[in-house]
Formats: sequence, C-alpha cells, structure tokens
Amino acid sequence: MLAGDGIGPEVMAEVKKVIDWSNDKRDTGFQVEDDLVGGACYDAHGCAVTDETMEKALAADAVMLGAVGGPKWDNVAREHRPEAGLLRLRKDMDLFANLRPALVFDALIDSSSLKPELVRGLDIMIVRELTAGVYFGEPRGEDVRNGVRYGFDTQIYSEHEIDRVARVAFELAKKRSNKVTSVEKANVMESGVFWRKIVNEVHAADYADVELGHMYADNCAMQLVRWPAQFDVIVTDNLFGDLLSDCAAMLTGSLGMLPSASLGAKDEKTGKIPAMYEPVHGSAPDIAGQGKANPLATLLSYSMMLRYSFDMTEDADHLDNAVQNVLARGLRTADIMSDGMTQVSTSGMGDALIEELEKLS
Ligand code: NAD
Ligand code: IPM
Ligand code: MN
Repeated sequence: MLAGDGIGPEVMAEVKKVIDWSNDKRDTGFQVEDDLVGGACYDAHGCAVTDETMEKALAADAVMLGAVGGPKWDNVAREHRPEAGLLRLRKDMDLFANLRPALVFDALIDSSSLKPELVRGLDIMIVRELTAGVYFGEPRGEDVRNGVRYGFDTQIYSEHEIDRVARVAFELAKKRSNKVTSVEKANVMESGVFWRKIVNEVHAADYADVELGHMYADNCAMQLVRWPAQFDVIVTDNLFGDLLSDCAAMLTGSLGMLPSASLGAKDEKTGKIPAMYEPVHGSAPDIAGQGKANPLATLLSYSMMLRYSFDMTEDADHLDNAVQNVLARGLRTADIMSDGMTQVSTSGMGDALIEELEKLS
C-alpha cells in the first residue's frame, strides 16, 4: 500500500479499515505492507520511489496507491517530482491498460453536473493507454535553437502498444454492450492516423463482431457531456485518457467517486497479472488534512482489486453494494453533499461502510 501525499493517506486509512475488517470477519488473510511514494518518499529518500519499493511492488500480488504530489514539491526537478514515482511504477510494472469506469449510482443522480435524465444508469468504461505516448516519448526537454528557447515532448506509439490496449478494450466490450469508441485526433496527428489504423486492423482480425466507432478527442469531450449514454467502452491514448476520465468523473457526481485499475499482461508461466489500483483523483492539496476527502474512489479501486487480482467476486459485490447502501442512507462527504443529506467526514464514510458490510455478510 502506497498511500502517498495529501489526501492519499486519509483515503487509504479507510481501505485499511475494510481490509482489517475482512481479515477479521471473512478470514481473507491479506498481508499488507506500507511503503512510501511521491513527495513522502522524496522527503525521506530524495527520490519519488526507491528501487526497494519497486522490487516489493513487482513481487506483490497487487499494489494499492493513494495519490501523489502537492505544492511543497512543485519546484523539485522533474525526475524527482512526486508524479515521477507514480509514472515509474506504471512503466516498470508495465501497466499499460488503465481501466477507469464511470458509473452513476442512483443515489447520486443529483450530484452530477448533468441533468438526471442524461446520467441515470450510466456505465462507461474508459480504457486509457498508460505506459507510452507523450508521457514517456523521447526526445523531451528544453533546448535553445538559433537563440530561441524551446520546450518539447514527443507523442509516439508503437504498433504493439496500440494493439495490446485495443485488445483489452474489445475484450471488455464483449462482456458489456459490445461497443468500442476509439478516440484520437487523426485529423491533425500522425500518431492519431496510426492509432486508428492499428485499432482497425485488430478489429478486422479478431473482433469484427464488436461494434467499433472512431471519434476525435475534442468531439468526444463534448459528446461526454452532451449524451454520455452513447458510449460503452472508450479506448484512447495516455493524455486524452487522462483528460477524458476527469471529465467523465463529474458525470458520476465527483472526482472522488472514480476508481481505476492499472493492469499489465498476464505472465504465461505464473498466470499473474501485474496490477495497481488507484483512484483517478490526485492529492487534493486544497482539502488535505481536513477530513473532507471522499474515500469512495479508493474504496471502489480496492473493490476492483478484489475482482481483478483475487477473483473475490462476492467480497467485491458486497463492497459495491455497501457503497450503494451508504449513499442511499443519505450519507455524503462534502464533495457530493446536497440538500437534505447528512454530511460525514472521510472516516465517518469509512465507518458507515463497515456497518453496511456487517449487514451484508
Ligand atoms: P486533484 O485531483 O488532486 O484535485 C482536483 C479537485 O478535486 C480539487 O478541488 C480537490 O479537492 C477535488 N478532489 C479530488 N479528489 C477528491 C476526493 N477524493 N474527495 C473530494 N474532493 C476531491 O487534482 P489537482 O489539484 O490538479 O492536483 C493536485 C496534485 O495531485 C498535483 O500534484 C497533481 O500532480 C497530483 N495528482 C496526482 C494523481 C495521482 O496520484 N494519481 C492524480 C491527479 C493529480
Ligand atoms: C492521473 C494523474 C497522473 C497522470 C499524474 C499525477 C502523473 O493525473 O493518474 O490521472 O497524469 O496520469
Ligand atoms: Mn489525471
């Protein structure tokens, strides 16, 4: 468990409550090891994640991550910034597929920034490519050319990198509404043209029975707030996936509601899938240390961990239902608070969740 910075440790404390409860009441036998990442690790060791922590993360059955970053480290060199620790974990664990489900709970319909009729029953899966693209492309940096200063990054995708994330999207779609929307900007970017070509090839070769559409990223941002229910699975690159998933978060009521699973390829020998579970939100410096953070995105990420890494479907269902029940009781953290509801703190939300888990088991 890498709690990280800001509200990271606050929301992770609520996951720990659930783990302690399930070890106690459901005999799950989870062994948890805490470690540092992000600014917390920089302060202790001068880097955003240590080699030892990387080794432990690679050896673990699953990693849970809270959030990293904050104004305290804004002026640290880029390679040691808190965010670099998160990026190294994703890259070195080869977690190329980031599943970000935007699911609207009935009880939260009024917290969405869209009209109820647009978001009722909404269930979108954004599959974000997580280990390539402009986040990692070389060259990058600053330069002076003919006396003019430049800053630059490189957007680059190999066939393999697009192929494998497209397959994840198509496989997911087959278990859902059988529809994939691939998002890029093939109208202006060469890498976008290439992305579309490879997705079409994968589709024609192995997934012709899945409905496939293509959309430019700017239009997709607009369509997400115009008529989100038109989407089932969206597959897109690292940067567009980052932007579109924050946007999709508000459909559900708050960034504090959006979980994610970052998955790698199955090791054919051991059967293990490298995995890290992380809320979509960041360290929220504006509310850190005040007990205001919504822990549900992280708790729902933990539920994804039960489902994807441990095949504990019943426990995951219980947790998802407990979240639904807590919301139906009218309990709300500040970010999803509305008229007539009862405001609770981060830990108040976690305690109520345990009460609901008690009832369900
Ligand atoms: P942010 O996601 O931390 O916060 C954006 C807004 O959403 C803030 O107003 C915040 O209060 C609110 N918010 C976020 N999570 C919430 C929660 N669980 N409950 C209630 N409200 C919540 O994004 P930012 O402010 O742009 O970034 C702050 C820092 O976090 C930066 O250093 C950034 O790099 C980092 N960051 C880290 C991650 C990560 O660790 N996965 C993700 C995004 C941003
Ligand atoms: C996210 C975050 C990260 C990203 C940052 C903190 C590196 O915004 O997980 O969405 O851009 O991927
Ligand atoms: Mn983001």
